[in-house]
Amino acid sequence: MCGIVGYIGEKNAQNFLISGLKRLEYRGYDSAGIVTLDEKGKATLLRAKGKIANLEEKLAKAKRDDHIGIGHTRWATHGEPSETNAHPHKAGPIYLVHNGIIENYKELKAELSDFEFQSETDTEVLAALINSFYQDGKYPLANAVVQALKLVKGTYGIAVASEFAPEEIVVARSGSPLVIGVGHDETLVASDASALLGHTKRAIYLNDGEVAVIGKNSIEIKTLNAEPVSAKVEEIETNLAAIQKGGYDHFLLKEIMEQPESLTETLRGRVNAKEGTVHLGGPRLSVEELRKIRHLLIVGCGTAYHAGLLASYYIEQFTPEVTVEVVIASEYRYRSAYIPEDSVALIVSQSGETADTLACLREIKKQGVRTVGIVNAIGSTIAREVDGGTYVHVGPEISVASTKAFTSQVIAMVMFGLTIAQAKGVKGTMLRLYVEEIARLPEAIRSVLETVPKTVKRIAEKHAKYEHAIYLGRDTAYPAAMEGALKLKEVSYVDANAYAFGELKHGPLALIDDRFFEVVLLPKGVLYEKAVSNIEEVLARGGHMVVVTNVTDFDLPVEDVILIDAKVEKFAPLLMNLVSQLLAYYMTVCRGLNVDQPRNLAKSVTVE
Ligand code: AGP
Repeated sequence: MCGIVGYIGEKNAQNFLISGLKRLEYRGYDSAGIVTLDEKGKATLLRAKGKIANLEEKLAKAKRDDHIGIGHTRWATHGEPSETNAHPHKAGPIYLVHNGIIENYKELKAELSDFEFQSETDTEVLAALINSFYQDGKYPLANAVVQALKLVKGTYGIAVASEFAPEEIVVARSGSPLVIGVGHDETLVASDASALLGHTKRAIYLNDGEVAVIGKNSIEIKTLNAEPVSAKVEEIETNLAAIQKGGYDHFLLKEIMEQPESLTETLRGRVNAKEGTVHLGGPRLSVEELRKIRHLLIVGCGTAYHAGLLASYYIEQFTPEVTVEVVIASEYRYRSAYIPEDSVALIVSQSGETADTLACLREIKKQGVRTVGIVNAIGSTIAREVDGGTYVHVGPEISVASTKAFTSQVIAMVMFGLTIAQAKGVKGTMLRLYVEEIARLPEAIRSVLETVPKTVKRIAEKHAKYEHAIYLGRDTAYPAAMEGALKLKEVSYVDANAYAFGELKHGPLALIDDRFFEVVLLPKGVLYEKAVSNIEEVLARGGHMVVVTNVTDFDLPVEDVILIDAKVEKFAPLLMNLVSQLLAYYMTVCRGLNVDQPRNLAKSVTVE
């Protein structure tokens, strides 16, 4: 996802813009740029293809002590990654940075025939459109921005500066996040609060359809229809340490290794192991409303979808008369699926900004269905649009590959399921067993992370040469296998796919040959013997297998076994997933690839 930063105040704008863009690098980008204005409005525009370091090379020869500016990291959607297509885009005295997609940019461009376009981007069209209303400063900048936005179809988060108004920045959003940092004699703006840390902890989250004019000591927010909006200043919850590597080589490894702590934060105040109960206040559903639930719809993309799938296996165990349906947001939003009475929809998203998931949320709400967010990013769009929610509180997840959020999303959804079972008066020891395991899970994770990394690193180095991998599992190990395959493919570029073990003989078994290695997640339990016979089917066809298991007497002749000391039984697949995360990490390091910013991917997919 692209990144936006803006600054107006007493300090050097170039310094803030560059450091702010560096904070947003983790989201993925392929070009960057900044523009600053001196007090007379003289602009210094710098743009570069590739990493911010290339921009800094240009900056070294163009240092200015300007105190207002905007900057951007671009993840190409319209037009290839290039300096010409990089933001900020200029139209007359106007400079614009933009996140999102202007869907009707071609029609708008056709109306701007007298403008000489330099780039292939939709953003430059918006800049030209704004200037067509601004008429080189004849009208107030904010009015020109509003007039232009009223013609736009699509999504945007924008910051606009003008050579004729070097004392203000105009920002606006619809579908792409923007947060305003409230400082002393300075005002900042960013697409992600992490860029504001170290400058201010006071933030105003802009809402869709709002436009703000920000000055050094002023913030005026209105709707597109010029209705004044009273700004709610909130505390930014995270801290600098949380977004720095803390001594690890990569954010991915840091975020894998901090899962005992991050899950502890997810559980804080929500689990009573002594009583065998859980309590979630955020969903804002009464006991009566919980008791009435008959259908759970779980919506997400990628890892969030896998978390929902894994959670669904657990939830159906202890809420007998509740059906659980897990859907991929980008598919579900275009279906005309019927949502039965007495349904609740769980909207799962680490970033809280994923376009397809957000679109699903809005569709589902239109049908009058109660929505509960399972989100990490505080104040994100999904978090603010659901009817209630449970923040997973794992802290900023910087690496594109999601790890700690997955573990906590699963458990947060299991806890939500437990609150339904509690409200329905489900008797017996099952609920207590789940609650006790949840309470023990952070330590169980710690124990695995203290024991397996060396073995996993060795096995990863041995398998780094493979271009194909198959992940296999049954029951709760199957969604975990899906997540393991996604992890490996998205960071190491190995063609990794997961199959339900029982499905192998219905086709995928034909794949087995020396091109592949197999990872089998093998928890003890009722399906253990069936999985063992599946393993023998693969071995008989020359499989190169890594088995991850908590069965101490596992003794089939596979090439590698990773034994985990699972201090929990039901959630053993979550512990096995730690091995998958580490395997993906070490294979990627071995292959010399960019661990935290894999090619073609962004941390938060805010475009459809
Ligand atoms: C996970 O490793 C991927 N980066 C990706 O699949 C991600 O889970 C997906 O884009 C959903 O993101 P969200 O949780 O922020 O909505």
